[in-house]
Amino acid sequence: MSAAARNRTGTVAPAFERLDADDLPGLLGLERHGFGPGERWSADSWRAELAGPGRLCLGLRGGDGLVAAGIIGVLFEDAELLRIVVAPPARGRRVATGLLAGLMAAAAGRGAERMLLDVRRDNGAALALYGRAGFIRIAVRENYYGPGADALVLEAAVRPRGSAAGAAEGGRP
Ligand SMILES: CC(C)(COP(=O)(O)OP(=O)(O)OC[C@H]1O[C@@H](n2cnc3c(N)ncnc32)[C@H](O)[C@@H]1OP(=O)(O)O)[C@@H](O)C(=O)NCCC(=O)NCCS
Repeated sequence: MSAAARNRTGTVAPAFERLDADDLPGLLGLERHGFGPGERWSADSWRAELAGPGRLCLGLRGGDGLVAAGIIGVLFEDAELLRIVVAPPARGRRVATGLLAGLMAAAAGRGAERMLLDVRRDNGAALALYGRAGFIRIAVRENYYGPGADALVLEAAVRPRGSAAGAAEGGRP
């Protein structure tokens, strides 16, 4: 990890940076390792998403390039998590947990009250991540990703980092 800061518990927390179109090669590398051929975002998709209204893309840089990235869009009280991905060697170390917390705090800071996302019903790692962050299921989109591949629509309240309510509600749903 290129940058890190100590958090309140004294453990080393990675420092997430804002990403932009200059990070496209790294973002496409994360796509290749994170998603199947039919689900990957192309360079054009990433360019369009980075330039879209209310977008914020945060990531973590390492010695060999991008380690993680996540992008949200915020429109009034609703934020949407559009993508989150961690490079395989860095998985299981709570990098996504920290990145998602940063994105949720940033969304709240921009006026959002809730975050929404779609996730494949069979994506166990992502479901564990989102459940731990307080997301609950509000709808199912049947066959959204293809025959038999349903999407779950999840929602969580978002609060600025350090707010009393947010601090009190950290932990498992
Ligand atoms: C989903 C993903 C972002 C998680 O990244 P990560 O940095 O490994 O996640 P974390 O280490 O923060 O783990 C979060 C929780 O998920 C659990 N988890 C991680 N990988 C898991 C797996 N393969 N199966 C089940 N649970 C898993 C962790 O144990 C942790 O729970 P815990 O804190 O209770 O132990 C990563 O697996 C990834 O990039 N996948 C491919 C892209 C993708 O599917 N993105 C989401 C849909 S857009």
